Amino acid sequence: MSQEQSLVGIVLAAGQGTRMKSALPKVLHEVCERPMVSWVVQAALDAGASECVVVVGHGRDAVMSLLKDEFEDRVRFAVQEEQRGTGHAVRCAMDAALQDYQGRLLVLYGDCPALSAVTLKTLVTKSENASSGLMVATKNDPRGYGRIVRNESGVVTAIVEDRDCTPEQKEICEVNPGLYVFDAAFARDAMSRLTDDNAQGELYLTDLIAMSETPVVDLLGDMAEMMGVNDRSQLAEVEKTLRLRINIAWARSGVTIRDPFGTFIGAECVLEPDAVIEPNVHLRGKTIVHSGARVDVGCVLKDVEVHGGATLKPYTVATESSIGEAANVGPFSHLRPHTKLGPESKVGNFCETKKTTVGRGSKVNHLSYVGDGILGEGVNVGAGTIFCNYDGVQKHTTVLEDGVFIGSDSQLVAPLTVGKGAYVASGSTVTKDVPSDALAMSRTKQVNKDGYASRLRARMKAAKK
Ligand code: UD1
Ligand code: CA
Repeated sequence: MSQEQSLVGIVLAAGQGTRMKSALPKVLHEVCERPMVSWVVQAALDAGASECVVVVGHGRDAVMSLLKDEFEDRVRFAVQEEQRGTGHAVRCAMDAALQDYQGRLLVLYGDCPALSAVTLKTLVTKSENASSGLMVATKNDPRGYGRIVRNESGVVTAIVEDRDCTPEQKEICEVNPGLYVFDAAFARDAMSRLTDDNAQGELYLTDLIAMSETPVVDLLGDMAEMMGVNDRSQLAEVEKTLRLRINIAWARSGVTIRDPFGTFIGAECVLEPDAVIEPNVHLRGKTIVHSGARVDVGCVLKDVEVHGGATLKPYTVATESSIGEAANVGPFSHLRPHTKLGPESKVGNFCETKKTTVGRGSKVNHLSYVGDGILGEGVNVGAGTIFCNYDGVQKHTTVLEDGVFIGSDSQLVAPLTVGKGAYVASGSTVTKDVPSDALAMSRTKQVNKDGYASRLRARMKAAKK
C-alpha cells in the first residue's frame, strides 16, 4: 500500500447465526477462549487498518460492549436493523461511519476467525491500484459457497451465489471465502446500484465484483485459515486450526510443546522460553508459565501463575492460584482459588487446597484438605490432615507457624493457631490453640491386653456355631 492510501476495516457481524442453535450471537462464540469477532477485528488491525467499523444487529449490545472493552477507539459501529444481505450491511457501515472516506476498505465477515493478518496484508498490497480485490480458494466440495467466474484470460468477472448458480456454475470448485478489498469511492457508487434480484432477495456484496471498474485482483489462499463458521461442527474445526497455530507459535518462541495437536493454550495465556508443556494440558484464562517450569500430562490450569522451575505433576487441576519457584504439586491434586504456594513448597498427591498460603519449603504431601490456612516456612502437614474450616455458617482460619509438625490423620478445628515449632501428635483433633514448641495430643491412651487376641477369636467362633 502506498503511503497516502489509508485502510479501514469493515466487519460484518449483524446476522443471527441460526445454524449455531444458540442464545449467544454467533460472532460471540469463542475460539481458543476469544470471541470470533475479536479475532477478525484483530486481524484487520494487524493487517494495517487504522480502525474497524463493525456492522451489528442481532445481539448488538453484547457485541458492542465486548469490542469496545477490547479495542476502545479503534472500533466504531453501524447498526443494521434488518439483515437485508451482505451488500446492505456494507452500505450501512459506509452511511453510518464512512460518508466522506476516500481510502481503501478491507471487508471481512465476523464469522471467519482463523484468517491471518499476513494473508490480508498481501491482498491489500496486491490490489492497491484496483477498485476491487478478493481472496479465492479451491474446495473439493464447493456447496454453499459463492463460485468464482473467470473470463477467457482468467480474470475474475463475477461471483455467483450457490443458490443462483446454473448447473454448469455449480461444478466450479473455485470459491469465494469472503475477504475483500475495495476502493471506497467505487464501493459507495456501486452499492447504490445493487439490486435484490436474486434467489435470496438480498443485496449481495458479491455483486460488486462484476461491477469493478478495473480488472479484479485475486489472491489464492488456504481454505483452512479462511473458513467461515455457520454451525458448531465448523466452530470445532476452526478451533483446531487456531489451536495448532497458537501452539506452534509458542514452540517457535522457545517453549517445549510436546504434542502441539493435543494441547490447549487459550489466547490470553503467556509462556516463557524453556517452559515445558506435556500432552493433554489445558491452559486457560490468563495463565502464565515461567521459564523452566514443567506442566505435566493432563493438567488443567485456569488463571494460574507457575513460577520458574516449578513442577506440576500429572493431572493437577488449579484455578486462580500461584505456584512458587521450584515448588512441586501433584499428581492428582486440586488447587482451588487463592492458593499461594511459596518457593520450594510441596503439595503432593490427592490434596485439595483453598484460599491458603504455604510458606517456603513447607509440605502437604498426602491426601489432605487445607482450606483457609496460613502456613509458615518449613511446616509439615502429615497424611490425611483435615483443616476443619467451616462451622456450617462461617469460614475460619488456621495458622500454622514456622516449623510446625502436624502428625498424620489430624483434624485442625478452626479458628486455630499452632505456634512456632509446635508438634501435633498423629490422630489428634485439635480445637484449642497450641503454644510454640508444645506437643498437642488429643487421642485416648492406648491399652495392650496380653494374649487377648486368641481368646477373642475363640469366643467369636463359638458364637458363630
Ligand atoms: C457469503 C458470500 C458467499 C461466500 C460465503 C463465505 C454473499 C452474498 N455471499 O455467503 O459468496 O462464499 O459468504 O462464507 O456475501 N451479515 C450481515 N448482514 C446481513 C447479512 C450477513 O451482517 O444482512 C453478516 C453475517 O453475520 C455473517 C456474514 O455477513 O457474518 C456472512 O453472511 P452469511 O449469511 O453467512 O453469508 P453466506 O450465505 O455464507
Ligand atoms: Ca457464512
